[in-house]
Amino acid sequence: MPAPRTLLLTGAAGGVGTLMRELLPPYGYELRLLDVVPVPGAPDAIVADLADRAALREAVRGVDAIVHLAGISLESTFDKIMAANIAGTYNLYEAAREEGVRRVVLASSNHAVGFTRRPREGEPLVPVDTPHRPDTFYGLSKCFGEDLAQLYWDLHGLETVSVRIGSCFPEPTSVRMLSMWLSPADCARLLHATLTAEDVAHTIVYGSSANTRAWWDLSTARALGFAPEDDSEVYAEKLVADKGHPPEGSADDLYLGGHFCVNPPRWPH
Ligand SMILES: NC(=O)c1ccc[n+]([C@@H]2O[C@H](COP(=O)([O-])OP(=O)(O)OC[C@H]3O[C@@H](n4cnc5c(N)ncnc54)[C@H](O)[C@@H]3O)[C@@H](O)[C@H]2O)c1
Repeated sequence: MPAPRTLLLTGAAGGVGTLMRELLPPYGYELRLLDVVPVPGAPDAIVADLADRAALREAVRGVDAIVHLAGISLESTFDKIMAANIAGTYNLYEAAREEGVRRVVLASSNHAVGFTRRPREGEPLVPVDTPHRPDTFYGLSKCFGEDLAQLYWDLHGLETVSVRIGSCFPEPTSVRMLSMWLSPADCARLLHATLTAEDVAHTIVYGSSANTRAWWDLSTARALGFAPEDDSEVYAEKLVADKGHPPEGSADDLYLGGHFCVNPPRWPH
């Protein structure tokens, strides 16, 4: 497929969307923005809910690819997750199929496999084909998104790269994030790789920087051309001194999903 030029960026007002609005255009993309809330500084952004099928159909018309970040990004009630992340992602894929969009880059999450034990020193990194083990309704919605992407590839030939993002923030802010951190610059590099690699079918990748303390296997991302340049280790000494290691046997110590496994944000709602 020819390299995409015009992208629909959903969730453009969010944390990752705001970072990518700055970092993706230098790769040559023209961005069309969408969010359910106005996007600061972008009066042309489409303000629409993922429930609005007509608006989605119009939003995807003519774009070369979609980077789908919109949705609820933490645990919430099942009803809210259902509407935004499950039905909303379905609505977007239907719009993409109807309008002939060739590729979606889907923001999945480490929380799709959150109850997976994190590897100890000397143990193999967690591969992408480890079974789904969601730690929340939020993680469950990301499992749904990955399976939906597989279905749309098998049935309709719509390509997706599902990116199980670790923690994409300007800096890691916890010891767990030393393993999960995806620097904003590496996030842009990863998205560019997922958008330009040939013949991705449905590929699942982990999204993190080249962290010394990584828990998961970046080989499927590297196979798409991703070459991360950052490593959270530069923040390690200060973070460990300030926060200490998670207590042995705690969720942050045991599982990829960390505290989401036992004390997810906003639970119960
Ligand atoms: N930030 C991370 O480290 C991280 C980690 C794992 C996965 N992710 C995933 O990446 C994506 C972006 O994460 P983020 O941190 O920027 O989240 P965020 O919550 O900051 O942004 C999400 C955006 O989606 C919009 N949105 C929510 N419901 C919507 C709806 N029904 N219709 C249209 N827009 C809607 C919100 O208004 C918001 O601007 C999310 O899908 C999240 O689950 C992020």
